[in-house]
Amino acid sequence: MSKHQIESFSNGSFSVRNLELNECMHSSIGPWSEAQQIYLAQSHLVDRILSTDARSDSRPFVIYDIGLGIAANALATLELLRATTAQTSPGRRVILMSFETDLEGIKDALVRHDLFPFLDRNTAIIQKLIESGPVSEKLGNGVEFDWELKVGDFRDHLADCPLADIIFFDLYSPKSCPALWGLRTFQALFQKAHALPKKTTRETLLITYSASTAARTALMLAGFYVGKGTSTAGKKETTLATTQFSSLESPLGRDWIEHWRRSSRPVPADYPDLQEKQNQSEILAKLLLSIQGN
Ligand SMILES: C[S@@+](CC[C@H](N)C(=O)[O-])C[C@H]1O[C@@H](n2cnc3c(N)ncnc32)[C@H](O)[C@@H]1O
Repeated sequence: MSKHQIESFSNGSFSVRNLELNECMHSSIGPWSEAQQIYLAQSHLVDRILSTDARSDSRPFVIYDIGLGIAANALATLELLRATTAQTSPGRRVILMSFETDLEGIKDALVRHDLFPFLDRNTAIIQKLIESGPVSEKLGNGVEFDWELKVGDFRDHLADCPLADIIFFDLYSPKSCPALWGLRTFQALFQKAHALPKKTTRETLLITYSASTAARTALMLAGFYVGKGTSTAGKKETTLATTQFSSLESPLGRDWIEHWRRSSRPVPADYPDLQEKQNQSEILAKLLLSIQGN
């Protein structure tokens, strides 16, 4: 018996519920609106790709899609790039790397692709990705698009992955899977970021739907600068984490630090000796530096 169940939302969209965690893959706005509002709009993806000049920096533009789920974020990315007519510099290569531990969710959704218009439009490419490996498409605007699927825990694949420009961090909630939102996870992702001391003019932006205090703390302790992301009908606030402080429109500030002090769960589950007073003041000092862009 499948551990996933298709669920309908009041706006007419559908998602997939993981029955073991009793958690839906998407908020009540549905997978496609979530992909558009939280991940694509906030990444300014096309502008970012266009502004990374392939002539001066030949490395590909890399997007991590963690996790694939039912591929709403991945297919929204592909469809956006297909629809973009602005020319990129010659040979610009975009690599979309999707990570997924459990392909059962998308396989179940594909059986009812009639309920998911984005799957219905893209059944062939997604079947090919799952069954026979990477797919490539030469897009009208000169982008060479490669889509790879890494099956298993994304953390086990990172060593073989190129540095990321964009990270869509879309896993089940910190409440259900605290370790996935912990310090070690974000330290591993920071290793794959365009960040000093590596020689770089590029930025890495991580986007997630969660505004969890402990997850934001973990991101900051790992080295990212963190800001508030957009709100949606399903989420009061989302989170943006970047390697370039100046690119944050709404960096977390003193009000967030006050909230952190009052929080009942201020630090990630894998931070050592949380109860130690000394550690708490060390963390606070690091967070204060981070909100100032240091
Ligand atoms: C909230 S859903 C993702 C929704 C998806 N982004 C979409 O556009 O439909 C979370 C997904 O992450 C997968 N997942 C959970 N832990 C993972 C891990 N350690 N590595 C890779 N994928 C993981 C789950 O199996 C699930 O399909």
